[in-house]
Amino acid sequence: MKKRVLSGVQPSGNLHIGNYLGALKNWVEIQYDYESIFCIVDLHAITVYQKPEELRNNIRTLAALFLACGVDPKHSAVVVQSTVKQHAELAWLLTCVTPVGWLERMTQYKAKAALQETIGDGILQYPVLMAADILLYQAHVVPVGDDQAQHLELTRDIAQRFNSLYGETFVMPETKLPAVGARIMGLDEPDKKMSKSATGAGHAVALLDPPEVIRKKIMRATTDSNPAVDFAALGAGVRNLLTIYQAFAGCTDEQIRSRFEGMRYGDLKKQVAEIVVESLAPIQQRYREITASPEYLDAVLEESAARVRPVAEATVALVKDRMGVYSRR
Ligand code: TRP
Repeated sequence: MKKRVLSGVQPSGNLHIGNYLGALKNWVEIQYDYESIFCIVDLHAITVYQKPEELRNNIRTLAALFLACGVDPKHSAVVVQSTVKQHAELAWLLTCVTPVGWLERMTQYKAKAALQETIGDGILQYPVLMAADILLYQAHVVPVGDDQAQHLELTRDIAQRFNSLYGETFVMPETKLPAVGARIMGLDEPDKKMSKSATGAGHAVALLDPPEVIRKKIMRATTDSNPAVDFAALGAGVRNLLTIYQAFAGCTDEQIRSRFEGMRYGDLKKQVAEIVVESLAPIQQRYREITASPEYLDAVLEESAARVRPVAEATVALVKDRMGVYSRR
């Protein structure tokens, strides 16, 4: 039997080339090796206030982008988290075996808490809900960025604790980090990972940016005071541009070196911009086709949820039974 792979993305902000190269492209490549579930985690998004109309749109946009990037809904389930109610139900059951101290130690929690005076309970619970997403489907493999590795460790700790309290119940999920080179940095601040929430206009290339916007952003990317590419002394900005080129072109380190060594930054940027424009064009085209028929998207989401629901129901029934909460005899 195929192993199960599961990952999730929050429907907040604009999906960008960092998300594509670091996550989606990889999902598409591995989807047939596994039984695949890709979640749009709207219940995670509302841990911080979202304008309802924007959230509604973002969920659909993200679902359409998953498909446009090549997630094949005939094979992979594209699940909006809130449409399978067992995500929330299992999260509560797992909350009851999770020490608060484990949650307070999470780096992302501490970073978010430091920025606010009062901190919503949802922010603290965030990783328990994520554990529920994964354990609900007994996923074996979870591809995530390294910023999520700690949440995966917590997921295993929760699973282990549950198993030792109530008997073997959960599969231990394995973290699958993206290949080296898949980490794309901000164009304007190449020392920071490209982020959906960054506000700088030139920070990220969104998957739906029109060609002229893509060109403008890349031409303005931060480099350094050298005039041309020198592989013996690569600054973070130039390295990032080369990584972007390489990831889209799928070429080797050697090919990158011989193509770009000594090239002036302006010319490098033109070539990077062109490969990004070219690579995103078919994705954008498919996106337009998909969004032209909203019924199609709804059908995919409903069919996916229906496909995974029996697994979710079985897990929650088992967990409730193990814990001794009411079940009909
Ligand atoms: N926390 C993840 C992120 O922000 C999103 C997420 C939610 C997720 N549930 C998940 C990722 C389950 C992998 C598996 O990137």
